[in-house]
Amino acid sequence: MNTPPLLVTCGLPYTNGPCHLGHLRTYVPADTYVRYMRRSGEEVVFVCGSDNHGTPIVISAEEAGVSPRALSERYHRHFDETFKRMNVLFDRFGMTDDPATHHRTTSIVSGLIKNGYIYKQIVHQAYCTKCKRFLPDRYVEGVCPHCGSQARGDECDQGCGKHLEPGEIKDPFCKVCGTIAEFRDQEHYFFKLSGFREFLLPYLDTLRGTSNAKNYAIGWIKDELHDWCITRTLEWGVKFPGRNDLVVYVWVDAPIGYIAFTEEWAEKAGKDWKRYWCGENRVTHFIGGDIIYHHSIFWPALLKAAGYGVPNAIVASGMLKVDDHKFSKSRGYVVWTNEDYLDKGLPADYLRYYLLAYTSHTKELNFSWKVFSERINNEVVNIFGNFVYRTLFFAHKEFNGVPSCPVDPAIIAEIEKSLVNVDQLMREYEFKGAVDAMMALAAFGNTYIQTNAPWKLIKTDREAAAQVIKNCIQIAKAVALLLEPVMPAKAQECWTMLGYNDNVSNYPIREAVHNIPETCIKVPVPLFAKMEEDLVKELDALLQKRVAEANKKVEKTPVVTFEEFQKLDIRTGKVLSAEPVPKSNKLLKLQVDTGGEIRQIVAGMQQFYKPEELVGRDVVVVTNLAPAKIFGIESNGMILAAGDTASLLTPLKPVEPGSKIR
Ligand code: MF3
Ligand code: ZN
Repeated sequence: MNTPPLLVTCGLPYTNGPCHLGHLRTYVPADTYVRYMRRSGEEVVFVCGSDNHGTPIVISAEEAGVSPRALSERYHRHFDETFKRMNVLFDRFGMTDDPATHHRTTSIVSGLIKNGYIYKQIVHQAYCTKCKRFLPDRYVEGVCPHCGSQARGDECDQGCGKHLEPGEIKDPFCKVCGTIAEFRDQEHYFFKLSGFREFLLPYLDTLRGTSNAKNYAIGWIKDELHDWCITRTLEWGVKFPGRNDLVVYVWVDAPIGYIAFTEEWAEKAGKDWKRYWCGENRVTHFIGGDIIYHHSIFWPALLKAAGYGVPNAIVASGMLKVDDHKFSKSRGYVVWTNEDYLDKGLPADYLRYYLLAYTSHTKELNFSWKVFSERINNEVVNIFGNFVYRTLFFAHKEFNGVPSCPVDPAIIAEIEKSLVNVDQLMREYEFKGAVDAMMALAAFGNTYIQTNAPWKLIKTDREAAAQVIKNCIQIAKAVALLLEPVMPAKAQECWTMLGYNDNVSNYPIREAVHNIPETCIKVPVPLFAKMEEDLVKELDALLQKRVAEANKKVEKTPVVTFEEFQKLDIRTGKVLSAEPVPKSNKLLKLQVDTGGEIRQIVAGMQQFYKPEELVGRDVVVVTNLAPAKIFGIESNGMILAAGDTASLLTPLKPVEPGSKIR
């Protein structure tokens, strides 16, 4: 049997916010890999699409006052256009809310039911009595049962990173209104993931891709695997077969989108999608490092259970930092692809280069305007740009084109070495190494032209000068061919300047070792413009301003000494009773046991807690605050709470009332 064709996918962006560098860190290398593999003679299909379902989209749509479909279409178009501007070119960029994904999901889930992999079970699910609804996934926040961090309903996003099943989160409250949630029983459907350990162990052992994906996954399945609740109480999504009140969890239909988008592409291209997904395949998923679990555990088990082929490779990118800070939209450490970059007139190719060449694909990538401009100026402009310009300028001036002598075999051998090197690195997903090897060839060319100085040689030996410049032109040709997957637009410009009037992307990489024809070379123009210092400063100032604005929201307070801090007497207390303060819609009057004494405290918590919810709770009280009269009622202390919803601080382990906090 001949090897199946390569199918490359990228993690699907949610349609609830614009494209940023975090997205591109996955999509640009995937696009580079696809371009490279195609030009190495592989048949490759490259699919992606937008992820339209799930609570993130429903919540954002509610906030924006539009339907989830309308919001999805808006951002779908945005991503489609942005990827094109970045020269990330998919064969199909679909939507998971389109019929193909609905159909394929229904078919797969029905298959799972038929094959006996689904069972029904009652779940104690968080419910908001105020909003009168169940709180799936991101509708609920609370405490992670594994590590104790603050967590979202479906994921411990700030702590251990574990996936959380419905009903697992502790101390849940409603994300929309802040009300403490209660647990109510509800019927849900589970996928028997626990039965897939024996399948996953050897599967993960042979999984290709980057080692981070494989190693994380192997680490996870050392622990027990839990069955997976695959239904949610939402209107928006793919209906669970036979249940109008339930949709499937977004992490079921989203990866199924990969198959559906392949079907959509195949239908148009007159191909058979089954060749890509059934039986032995070469499906390669490019994803962010935060969704390895879904792709290496859930997804292969689901495919296996439904009778499909399982992914061949998972390529997971490392974290993104901005100015050495963890990427964060709310803290301002973000670079928006359009607003901050492309709309400023900066070339897509510079950013592509940086994202690929900064560090290994699996390592942490730091973006700063300063380092970005330095690397562009020192590497792209000074090495590649300079070499091509000097070569073509001289060829044009002295020979009006490419001299006819054959290229020196030693130069062809040098190019051959680069090709072998790049090929090996590309196939190992070592994109940085591959780009470095390409740039090393350009640097070799620069040194070669410098040491052989054809501008001197020509005064005494015109033929020798022709040989040198012919060699240089051949190197420039090789570099253009090699760099096309990295910088497609700039490689094409270079190609045209070399005298070709066709597309560099139509040539195989191996064209690099074939003598360049005797084309006519016109006056060259510099391929690249330097990043000017003023512009870099301006762009950086914009980023700093955004961070400063985000920071203002995180209040700044004066520094206190340890002695000053020690003056505070902070103790635990137990709430004995609570009642609303008459004529106030904010205040509650509490009696709190702070150890050997009972204090009356007035607190602004009426919107967030019903009095009876507070009775019996352990709280944290500042006990030596000067007494105050609030609404005419004496208050003797302050109860500590966090955030806009007055989330109460409470001791993790039981302690006696009056325990000192230090
Ligand atoms: N939308 C998801 C995220 O941004 C990724 C979905 S990838 C797929 O985390 F596998 F589900 F398709
Ligand atoms: Zn609520």
